[in-house]
Amino acid sequence: MQPLIDQYGRVATDLRVSLTDRCNLRCTYCMPAEGLDWLPTDDQLTDDEVVRLIGIAVGELGVEEIRFTGGEPLVRRGLVDIVRRVRERDADVEMSITTNALGLARTAGALADAGLNRVNVSLDTVRRDSFHEITRRDRLDDVVAGLAAAEAAGLGPVKVNAVLLRGVNDDQAPELLAWCIERGYQLRFIEQMPLDAQHGWSRAEMVTADEILASLSAAFTLSPASEPRGSAPAELFTVDGGPATVGVIASVTRPFCGDCDRVRLTADGQVRNCLFARSESDLRLALRAGATDAELAERWRTAMWGKLPGHGIDDPTFLQPDRPMSAIGG
Ligand code: 5AD
Ligand code: SF4
Repeated sequence: MQPLIDQYGRVATDLRVSLTDRCNLRCTYCMPAEGLDWLPTDDQLTDDEVVRLIGIAVGELGVEEIRFTGGEPLVRRGLVDIVRRVRERDADVEMSITTNALGLARTAGALADAGLNRVNVSLDTVRRDSFHEITRRDRLDDVVAGLAAAEAAGLGPVKVNAVLLRGVNDDQAPELLAWCIERGYQLRFIEQMPLDAQHGWSRAEMVTADEILASLSAAFTLSPASEPRGSAPAELFTVDGGPATVGVIASVTRPFCGDCDRVRLTADGQVRNCLFARSESDLRLALRAGATDAELAERWRTAMWGKLPGHGIDDPTFLQPDRPMSAIGG
């Protein structure tokens, strides 16, 4: 086994696989109301190709954890089947999805049966009007039902990811935390990153980790959690003495690139060694040209070796990647 190591000594063991760039919500910080130019179907990896590449990642490159993302992974027809096939090949690999939970109420049971371990649900507010304003869809009830179904199906601990937007839901952090604690969900706030399709992100508009913690501290007593953070992006705090916790993922103001163990595969078969990478490595072309597993593994290792030390968001020369978040996978 030769792992995915880069020239700074980081080893990637956590693979994020985007299964589609499409989504049934239109979060304002992600994509425009009319959606985007979706990837052509022929460019998308087939279920067989996805399963094969994951097999190479786990079998030859030391990947230990698979996270399916999108766009919205639940809109990919083959999702349950892909999960089942990955699980059949490898009983131990940790598998989860990052989802907006629309339709999860229907599929949570099948996903658990197929061998999925956990879900991460994106939910920025528990108010119907704010949800509609942020996602441009009136679907809060579906998300709430999806969360409950995931918990009931044993896909826990259920994690909730939230992004705060200034003037929209930045006053709702304590309310969201109380809601999640009541239901046993682990909430993590994520600083908004410059990855939106519209290039509308601005540092000044972004709600910072400091602001999030100040807002939470007005309602709860937070203390840094004692468990070591390792390569996990979230800084964890116990809430009111525990056992409940809350996480803050401060990608922008407290970058954790030095401990990064992640690698990404896009729905069209490109390896990205970083969310913010300016280039990617094509595995699809090689795969369709008949490359062997060993050849694909070697291409993948080469793609990781060139990973930059950090995202450079604070660098004056920073350029947002050409692909938006929805086409990379969170
Ligand atoms: N910055 C931070 N988080 C984002 N997400 C989507 N776009 C951004 C962004 N620009 C979040 C979603 C979801 C996860 C995949 O990433 O809300 O929780
Ligand atoms: Fe869909 Fe996630 Fe983008 Fe919202 S942030 S539009 S749920 S891909």
